[in-house]
Amino acid sequence: MKILRRATITGNGKYLPPEVMTNKDIEKIVDTSDEWIRSRTGIEKRRIAADDMTTSQMGYLAAKEALEDADLAPEDLDLIIVATVTPDMIFPATSCIIQEKLGAKNAAAFDLEAGCSGFVYGVSVAGQFISSGMYDNVLVIGVETLSRITDWEDRDTAVLFGDGAGAAVMQSTEKGGFLAYDLGADGAGQDALHVPAGGTIKPASEETVKDKLHFIRMEGNTVYKFAVKRMGKASLEVIKKAGLKREDIDLLIPHQANTRIIDAAARRLKLSSDKVYVNLPEYGNTSSASVPIALAEAKEKGLIKKGDIVVLVAFGAGLTWASAVIEWNEERG
Ligand code: ACO
Repeated sequence: MKILRRATITGNGKYLPPEVMTNKDIEKIVDTSDEWIRSRTGIEKRRIAADDMTTSQMGYLAAKEALEDADLAPEDLDLIIVATVTPDMIFPATSCIIQEKLGAKNAAAFDLEAGCSGFVYGVSVAGQFISSGMYDNVLVIGVETLSRITDWEDRDTAVLFGDGAGAAVMQSTEKGGFLAYDLGADGAGQDALHVPAGGTIKPASEETVKDKLHFIRMEGNTVYKFAVKRMGKASLEVIKKAGLKREDIDLLIPHQANTRIIDAAARRLKLSSDKVYVNLPEYGNTSSASVPIALAEAKEKGLIKKGDIVVLVAFGAGLTWASAVIEWNEERG
């Protein structure tokens, strides 16, 4: 893949709502146990946004932190991409609401929907705008308020999800930066993970509310098998595209859905656990927010050094998958 001008990440940010819901708290709501949740998923707790918190507000708070980290003013932004399956409204785009909150008056803005793969799809889209020379400063946000579309009476899904936001500022670079991306989709798996109503097939009605069709429906096992296969494959594919080998990987930042899925990907890549970033026990599955939150945290903890090869990989509703490999530099273009 010939890249005309490389894009890189120059700033990271995250926002996690302060309200913590533990597995013990969930035991009081549905028929489950702390032991089942830990052993089957690896999750111990998750953050749940307060009633007055919104997707755009969490995205805005993560974005502010990323802009400060990149030492960039909101007016300098050319484009804002928001990856989410839980927008403030069907339209306008949540990116436009965040643009207004930030005062990023020179930025174009659109939302991107690729399930939990949304943020990694987002960085690849931002990378194309930067590589082509169309834009210099792009903000990519992954943000979700999944608690609002979770059926709190369904133990199959209620134990899995959490709320939060992560953001990254992308700019051009002379050295390093994003070396390759790999994106994919398999629409045949659309029913394995979806919210049946609220769109044009089944507009909201008394019946859709009564039948709980506005909540996440998931065939856990189908998604699990897909994820186990795809996470490893997409990671191998992207490092091959970048002309690297799996031994070159310094840190894998996988979508945080299930530790068993992450472990399977790590085994396929022959990576030791210190090379795989996991914060799933703390936050649960925050869908498109999980990779940018993990990236911001890994950086804060000093786990990423200049020159490191970092692989981002995710899977999600669609079904979709996405991976990207970055040679970490944080040099500004
Ligand atoms: N507590 C207790 N028991 C439960 C619970 C629960 N919360 N949920 C299911 N069970 C029971 C089931 O009813 C079943 O009981 P049975 O054997 O009597 O029928 C048993 O536990 C086993 O159920 P399985 O579904 O086979 O459990 P599995 O080991 O597959 O784990 C899980 C389920 C954790 C959902 C797993 O399939 C998974 O992680 N799938 C991927 C899900 C995922 O990542 N989704 C998000 C995708 S990203 C996005 O785009 C939002």
